Amino acid sequence: MGNVAVIGAGMTKFGELWDKGLEDLIAEAGAKAVNDANIDGEDIQAIYGGNMSAGRFIGQEHIGALIADAIGLTPIPSTRVEAACASGGLALREAYLAVKSGTYDVVVAGGVEKMTDVYSEQVTQTLGGAGDQQWEVFNGVTFPSLYAMMARRHMHDYGTTEEQMAAVAVKNHSNGSKNPYAQFPFKVTLEQVMSSSKVAEPLKLLDCSPITDGAAVVILASEKFARKLPQEPIWIIGSAHTTDTLALHDRKSLTSIEATRLAGRQAMKQAGVTPKDIDLAEVHDCFTIAEIMAMEDLGFSKRGEGGKDVESGKFNLNSELSVNTSGGLKSCGHPVGATGIKQAVEVTWQLRGEAGKRQVDDAKVGLTHNVGGSGATAVVHIFSKEVD
Ligand code: COA
Repeated sequence: MGNVAVIGAGMTKFGELWDKGLEDLIAEAGAKAVNDANIDGEDIQAIYGGNMSAGRFIGQEHIGALIADAIGLTPIPSTRVEAACASGGLALREAYLAVKSGTYDVVVAGGVEKMTDVYSEQVTQTLGGAGDQQWEVFNGVTFPSLYAMMARRHMHDYGTTEEQMAAVAVKNHSNGSKNPYAQFPFKVTLEQVMSSSKVAEPLKLLDCSPITDGAAVVILASEKFARKLPQEPIWIIGSAHTTDTLALHDRKSLTSIEATRLAGRQAMKQAGVTPKDIDLAEVHDCFTIAEIMAMEDLGFSKRGEGGKDVESGKFNLNSELSVNTSGGLKSCGHPVGATGIKQAVEVTWQLRGEAGKRQVDDAKVGLTHNVGGSGATAVVHIFSKEVD
C-alpha cells in the first residue's frame, strides 16, 4: 500500500455567517482546495463529506450528493460521514483509507456545518444527540454539563484549578488572534475568562467553544499522482479511529478519554513517532478541560499534570509543543462537521510554512485529534513533511 499525500487545502472563514448557506460554504472551501492543489476537477474520483446534523440545523439531508452538486463534481461517488463532532476527522480517515487501499488516486475530504440558523437552545438539544439520549440528555444533561462533570472530577483527583483551565482559553485566543479565519480573533485575559458568565460550573462562557458556521476541505492523493504536481506534498503517516461507550457513566474513568488514548497510540505507532517528535498539535478543545485531558491522553503531559503544563506555557506557540495554533475550537470556532478537516488544513499550512503570524518555526511533524460526543469517537492523524 502506497503513501497518501495532502495536495490541497482550503477553508471558509468561521463564524456566524448569515449571508451564506451550506452549499455556499462547501463550494467556497472546495474551490479554494482545488485551486490550491493545482488540479482539474476531473482528476477527483470520490468525495467524503463530514456533517453532523444538517437535518436538524437547517432541515437538509442527503448531504453526500449535495456536496458533489455544490462543488460541481457530479456524478462521482460522494459519501456523507457522521460521527458527531468527529465527522470531519472521520471523513478524512475514510478518504485516507480510500487512497491507501489503491481504490482511488485523488479524493476530496470535506466538512461543513451551518449551526447559527437556529436558536442556541435548539443547538444544545441537537448536540445532545451525540451523547446518550435515553440516560443522559433525557435527564437534562447537556454537552457543557458533561464536560463540567469531567472537569470537577479532574479537579478532585489531580488538583486541577479553574485558572489552569482558563489558561487554555487565554493561549488559544492568543493563537486565534493571529488567524484571519477565526470566529473570535481576539485575545482574552485570565481575569476575563474567570469572570465570564457561568455555563455549567466550573465551566464559564470563555471555557466553551462557540456555535459556528463554516467549511473546510483537503484533497488527498496517491504518491504517484502527488509526485507529478509542482508543489511539495504533505504526507499522512498515521491514521487511527477508535470508539467507546456513548454514555459517560459507563466509562472506567471520567478524567481520561480512552478512545483518544488508544487512537493516539495507534496513530503514533503507525507513524513511527513518539510525542517528543511532534512539533504541533491541533486538539479537540471543545471545552478547556478537554484540551487538558487530551494532552494527558496523547502522552504530551503526565497523567494529572495537563493543567500545570498549560499554565507553565509548555504548549504556547513556539514553545515545547505548539498546541492549537489555529486558535482551536475555542477561538477559531467549532462548526462541528468541519472541525476535523479544519485541523488538517491548519497542520498542512503549518508544515508548508504558510501559517503567517502563527507559524511554528521549523515545523516537520503535526498531529490532529478530533473527538465525537464526550469521547465515544476519537480520530487521530499524523502529518509529516517527509515520508519514507
Ligand atoms: N466564546 C466566546 N464568546 C462567545 C461564545 C464562546 N464560546 N459563545 C458566545 N459568545 C459571545 C457571543 O459572540 C455574544 O457576544 P456579543 O454579545 O458581543 O454579541 C455573547 O457571547 C452571547 O452570545 P450568545 O450566542 O447569546 O451565547 P449563548 O448563551 O447562546 O451560547 C454557549 C453560549 C456557551 C452556551 C454556546 O456557545 C455553546 O453551547 N457552546 C458549546 C457548544 C458545544 O457544546 N459544542 C459541542 C462540543 S462537544
